[in-house]
Amino acid sequence: MSVPDRDSLVAAARAAAGGAYAPYSRFHVGAALAFADGTVLTGSNVENASYGLSLCAETVAAARALNDGRRGGLVAVAVIGGAVDAVGQGAPVTPCGRCRQVLNELAQLGGTDPVIWCAGGDGVLELRLSALLPHAFGPASLTPQ
Ligand code: THU
Repeated sequence: MSVPDRDSLVAAARAAAGGAYAPYSRFHVGAALAFADGTVLTGSNVENASYGLSLCAETVAAARALNDGRRGGLVAVAVIGGAVDAVGQGAPVTPCGRCRQVLNELAQLGGTDPVIWCAGGDGVLELRLSALLPHAFGPASLTPQ
């Protein structure tokens, strides 16, 4: 299993934030998902004039992975964000509740507990997905016991 270098995954997330479509919040977020085979897939937030339909960066990246046929292997996630001209300079961006659940789908499918690196101006907060989403409901919860 290949676990990526933290700083390079954060750099990938930062680059992804450049693709954000966030004209309403002007808060740009990038996420980078690293897989056991070395693949890195990224996403950025996509807002909508109907505000509640906006998609977070982590959700876009996870949807990309599932669309690519990935069904597990998620070993690490980096997230970074901030005002358009200050990405990564403020408090670390931790995945929102919905994104924790969306990431859990990929993680639980492959039986991994990915490390989540949340980058901010004072450094990188490191957490496990299981700490962000304890007692998660996921695909295994639907399997008859
Ligand atoms: N956002 C993300 O992309 N990921 C998160 O985990 C938190 C919030 C986005 C959603 C919205 O486009 C903007 O940040 C402000 O909330």
